Amino acid sequence: MSKIQTETQSVTYRCPSNIALVKYWGKKEGGVQLPANPSISWTLNDLFAETTVFASPKKEENQKVEFFLDGKPKPSFEPKIHTFLQRISSIVPVVSQWDLRIESKNTFPHGAGIASSAAGFGALALCLVDLEGVLQPSSPEFYQKVSICARLGSGSACRSMFEGAGIWGELNSIPGSSDEYAISFPFEIHSRLKNWKDAVLIVDDGEKKVSSTQGHDLLKTHAYANARFEQANKNLTELSEVLQNGNVERFVELVESEALQLHAMMMSSIPYYLLIRPNTLAIIEKIWAKREETQWEMAFTLDAGANVHLLYNSQQEDDVMNFINAELLPYCKNQLYLCSAIGGGPQKLN
Ligand code: DP6
Repeated sequence: MSKIQTETQSVTYRCPSNIALVKYWGKKEGGVQLPANPSISWTLNDLFAETTVFASPKKEENQKVEFFLDGKPKPSFEPKIHTFLQRISSIVPVVSQWDLRIESKNTFPHGAGIASSAAGFGALALCLVDLEGVLQPSSPEFYQKVSICARLGSGSACRSMFEGAGIWGELNSIPGSSDEYAISFPFEIHSRLKNWKDAVLIVDDGEKKVSSTQGHDLLKTHAYANARFEQANKNLTELSEVLQNGNVERFVELVESEALQLHAMMMSSIPYYLLIRPNTLAIIEKIWAKREETQWEMAFTLDAGANVHLLYNSQQEDDVMNFINAELLPYCKNQLYLCSAIGGGPQKLN
């Protein structure tokens, strides 16, 4: 039972973003936000959303919801939040009794192809499940419930609850995996793949022309959908082995292939579309040439956007930073890139 509440309560959470290594692309027919294939991501602990939710007993029949991003009202986000609240109403019923004021800020630009919705819905779900007061914050049951709720806001958000790596979607080779929520990667990650970092090279910071939600929808009638789902299953089973055995060469191959497959699916949807830009390709070719020359342990991946995530072994950080500054900056919009280590999960701030 949730507590009877008479006055305004508030809570603040910081929730990291994540970058998928095997991509979630397509939803199962018949469910709500269930993935057509399993996915795995690394948690990006320096790229996060920080959200405070103020919940007070509802004053009128219709629930009042206000959303502020970086201190400014964003009524354009409110319909998405209403849909989310409606979807979680059977899981966190008390939410429909509240008026909500939601204040959020990100350490990265919204709509830049960095999973801002993952961090945003992750943080909101953390706040609401905490305010409900039914489960002990930080307990495994708490994170499972938060992951279910976050998924109903944005699929990729459910993977942001875990330190290191999160897996979402049922797969025989991963014990405890589920379509309903993500779990922490259940095996020990090999030392060669443990301390990696991500430099997100910003090629385009504008809003995407086709949202991920629209992109997922196009898989319903996509000629290659089933082949892609099968491939993702195989890739995740193998990537799980590779993370345990430390085969970096195969890791690089799987991760880069996943990124290109994601964009190949966009290019072969009807209607077809392109989110990569000429500078995305220029950066990828530079990365390939540099790797060939130096054998550094690094791989690129892409989200549903033009930006390039350069994943690298932190032992090579100085070299990789010099490479970025000398050779990749000219391709970045406003010479911007964002750095994050792979690591920590969410944090409660008050
Ligand atoms: C390409 O989670 O943003 O980043 O569930 O419709 O909100 P919705 O989509 P979203 O899709 C993310 C897709 C991706 C791959 C991934 O993160 O796995």
